[in-house]
Amino acid sequence: MQYSKPVTEIIKQRSSRRSYRDQALDADIQKQLTAFMAGNNVGPFASSARFSLVAAKAGDSETLKGLGTYGFIRGARGFIVGAVKHSEKNLEDYGYMMERIILFATDLGLGTCWLGGTFNNSNFSKKIEAAEDESVPAVSPVGYIAEKRSVTERLVRWGAGSKMRHPWEALFFHETFNTPLSAGVAGAYALPLEMVRIAPSASNKQPWRIVKESWKPVFHLYLQRSKGYERSGEKFNTADLQRLDMGIAMCHFELSAKEMDLRGKWKIIPPAGLSLPERSEYIVSWLGDQQTSS
Ligand SMILES: Cc1cc2nc3c(=O)[nH]c(=O)nc-3n(C[C@H](O)[C@H](O)[C@H](O)COP(=O)(O)O)c2cc1C
Repeated sequence: MQYSKPVTEIIKQRSSRRSYRDQALDADIQKQLTAFMAGNNVGPFASSARFSLVAAKAGDSETLKGLGTYGFIRGARGFIVGAVKHSEKNLEDYGYMMERIILFATDLGLGTCWLGGTFNNSNFSKKIEAAEDESVPAVSPVGYIAEKRSVTERLVRWGAGSKMRHPWEALFFHETFNTPLSAGVAGAYALPLEMVRIAPSASNKQPWRIVKESWKPVFHLYLQRSKGYERSGEKFNTADLQRLDMGIAMCHFELSAKEMDLRGKWKIIPPAGLSLPERSEYIVSWLGDQQTSS
């Protein structure tokens, strides 16, 4: 693990920051971020992406001029921008990879904020010179956190209910979608699941649903699309943001499981005959190693 603190602590520490100190990123911080990004370019579904730090130097007002975050972000002197190649699960992969970077930045004490809607896609795509077979699904400002959240930021957080999260029983299930999963039955996996529950998601919709098999450390991940988000990408002219949310969930689950030495791997093994709630689709399963977990 390349983080200085336990990943569960970093996950708890992160929250979206939209107000920054007008201060250029330290050269050493830039170096660390760039090095981390360079080693983070293949997702669990094998899509490839490349990430870049677009940062302004002290006194440079040109680099970030007009990139476009529609008044939602104040004072940021750097952005994490990535481009991912088109493939079937590229958005889940992008969510996973970008969240690893966001957690790294959080570990460095920096603020970040996933932006999948309120950013000017064509300007950021130009900045990273995205090719025909690539897209830029989301970006994030990165910088020193301002002491106070601005009024706009407080309004946005209030609008999205950013502090709230669904309870366990709305997200995690045992064998079927009819039985909620208790922390007791989840056993050692209660912590990785809790790390999914507190993850960021677009408009804080929390579309992740997880079904545990009985007696086995096998967890099936589903995306339950929020009402009105059924064709989110086409409808809002953004990437399909709820697929990014699924990649973020995979990132939190895997990194916290690994930290607890719960070994396993991602596999596409949709359970047969499971009746799904409306607007739900299967994404992937965590196949835990039986010897290392309950
Ligand atoms: C995929 C994704 C896209 C997001 N897009 C935006 C956005 O365009 N603008 C914005 O202000 N916040 C955006 N957010 C931030 C969410 O609103 C935020 O994560 C959520 O409200 C939970 O708050 P927290 O991150 O402080 O825990 C996005 C988050 C995710 C995961």
